[in-house]
Amino acid sequence: MACPPFVLRPPRYEDVIPYTHFLADPEVSIWLDDSAQRPLSVARVEAILLREAWCLWSIDCDGAFAGVTSFYEPDPSRRTARYSIVIGDRRRWGQGLGTAVIRQVVEHGFSQLNLHKIESDILEHDKGALVIHERAGFVEEGRLRQDAWRRGEWVDRLLFSNLHDEWREGGGGS
Ligand SMILES: CC(C)(COP(=O)(O)OP(=O)(O)OC[C@H]1O[C@@H](n2cnc3c(N)ncnc32)[C@H](O)[C@@H]1OP(=O)(O)O)[C@@H](O)C(=O)NCCC(=O)NCCS
Repeated sequence: MACPPFVLRPPRYEDVIPYTHFLADPEVSIWLDDSAQRPLSVARVEAILLREAWCLWSIDCDGAFAGVTSFYEPDPSRRTARYSIVIGDRRRWGQGLGTAVIRQVVEHGFSQLNLHKIESDILEHDKGALVIHERAGFVEEGRLRQDAWRRGEWVDRLLFSNLHDEWREGGGGS
């Protein structure tokens, strides 16, 4: 399926309420950090989107706000940052949007932010996230065993990374 048209743009105040609703959807939040496993206040979401982010974009798809993607926890000495993506509008899942967004943000991270390594972690059953990370060149480099409690069981957290050298050798930036 062709990916629907999308743009990455700076977050706006109008995104705060819809993003709060997205994060309150258990089908979305289950894949996120422990801090998202209880409802987040509008004030907290406002801080996340508009005040605390290092490098964060809102995703507009077909002209409507659909989610957020970001780099966070930059480490200038290692030239690393962590990657995250949340497409909160579940009607958009499975249309190629996540794949297109992660590829564009990885390209930006290596070519514009001069990152050496992009890190990401994924809960083991999050198949959609695993697929898009692998398509964008991420490689599994470790596993934190029984690292999160979700829906009555412990689940492993997989550590993924993408290296600038490998991305370039794979044709990125050419
Ligand atoms: C992960 C996420 C970004 C993926 O976005 P998306 O727009 O659905 O991604 P895409 O459509 O580009 O690709 C997803 C692929 O995974 C596949 N997939 C999804 N669930 C799957 C499953 N249970 N088993 C096998 N494949 C699965 C889809 O079929 C699709 O592959 P296809 O293109 O061959 O059909 C989105 O689901 C999301 O935001 N989820 C909630 C938050 C989250 O998990 N964030 C990541 C935390 S690391």
